[in-house]
Amino acid sequence: MTFSALGLAEPLLKALEAAQFTIPTPIQQQAIPAVLEGSDMLGVAQTGTGKTAAFALPMLQHLSADKKTAQPRRPRALILAPTRELALQIDQSIRVFAKFLNIRAGVVIGGVGQHGQVKALNRGLDVLTACPGRLLDLMNQGCVALDDVEYLVLDEADRMLDMGFVRDVKKIVAKTREDRLTQFFSATMTREVEALAADMLYEPIRIQVTPGTVPVERIEQSVIFVEGSRKRGLLNEMLNDDAMSRVIVFTRTKHGANRLAQQLEKDGVPSDALHGNKSQSAREKALARFKRGQARVLVATDIAARGIDVDGVSHVVNFDVPMEPEAYVHRIGRTARKGAEGVAVTFCGPDEYAKLSDIERLLKRPLVDPANDPRPQRGGGKPTGEGKPGGGKGRRNRGRGKGGPGQGAAGGKPGAGQGGRRRGPPRAA
Ligand SMILES: Nc1ncnc2c1ncn2[C@@H]1O[C@H](COP(=O)(O)OP(=O)(O)OP(=O)(O)O)[C@@H](O)[C@H]1O
Ligand SMILES: [Mg+2]
Repeated sequence: MTFSALGLAEPLLKALEAAQFTIPTPIQQQAIPAVLEGSDMLGVAQTGTGKTAAFALPMLQHLSADKKTAQPRRPRALILAPTRELALQIDQSIRVFAKFLNIRAGVVIGGVGQHGQVKALNRGLDVLTACPGRLLDLMNQGCVALDDVEYLVLDEADRMLDMGFVRDVKKIVAKTREDRLTQFFSATMTREVEALAADMLYEPIRIQVTPGTVPVERIEQSVIFVEGSRKRGLLNEMLNDDAMSRVIVFTRTKHGANRLAQQLEKDGVPSDALHGNKSQSAREKALARFKRGQARVLVATDIAARGIDVDGVSHVVNFDVPMEPEAYVHRIGRTARKGAEGVAVTFCGPDEYAKLSDIERLLKRPLVDPANDPRPQRGGGKPTGEGKPGGGKGRRNRGRGKGGPGQGAAGGKPGAGQGGRRRGPPRAA
């Protein structure tokens, strides 16, 4: 299977070749033809399997085929993302894919002055990648209007529709064109979120590459039961192993991330922290240092859990068990991307048993060998033991391509693409 077989146009194929994308991943194989046909898309595929290109490529092809020019302050396509770093990363990808197209791309994110963003919007942007807060702010100031948005993407869609974001996202989506083409993507999806999403998608094709919520199989997962006070010592010991060459350590709190990064640095391990209390420039600098290999360890809160793509992360350490079980899947998905191997170790203190059990429920499998499980009513191991790592592991006739709709594992509705495109009524999930 090649990208040209998916119906992508020459300029995109050229850009893919330049970026050394040769074989489309399963989500790309399934989603791209369906979106080229004009269908809305709900795509669920594991971390690191190329969802960005899956939504960006067909969107760029539509934009360039439409032969319209972006008017000042009126972007034609909008991609929403939950964090600034992810928005910047998606924008970078758009620029790579659009290299041989006449497409202008830009970002709107908080934490930096708005002047440059307003200037870019004034020149006219085809593709705007944004975080909801700053976007709403600029909309309210009259710096941007979404009346021309024909293509909408929610990356990390389940996060964008959870309590923290859903109000803002709904406000934003309501301002876009009703006949838009909409794509929702994530590595995790819940029934509740899908019910919400049904309102914003029109007869979507639903593609789920793997059934259920599953981390990438190649990640060697383990849990170590350890008292909170001993976690740092344990991490230090582990870092004696040179195999831990590029490590992301996730902590629950910003303060915890800061403190741990400073302590590691003092202990001679080049480390940096990434969390929401840092200035945006410090955040970007920390991530860049880590990407370049100048920091061996990045200590981060969950702002780095979703979507962030750093090559060759060897290990993910959950210094604290994540509060949200889905975050576990995203956090450990920072390793073992695009076919690589990876290791994920979770430190679990006695006060974190319930959260660990939540994760196992989500994954529908145990992460701990029952013989070494100190949790009550489990294996009956000793509560203080540092258990051995267990587990193991439309609508407006958008149809431009040929061929049938997506062949998603979970199927989807064929035939979207005919007739006037209108947002369907809310549907049950
Ligand atoms: N077909 C391909 N050939 C080669 N590399 C690819 C291909 N598709 C994607 N990649 C690369 O794989 C990496 C992961 O892609 P991407 O970030 O889009 O994954 P994702 O599915 O969005 O993951 P996450 O759920 O963590 O957001 C990126 O570095 C991307 O450039
Ligand atoms: Mg992604």
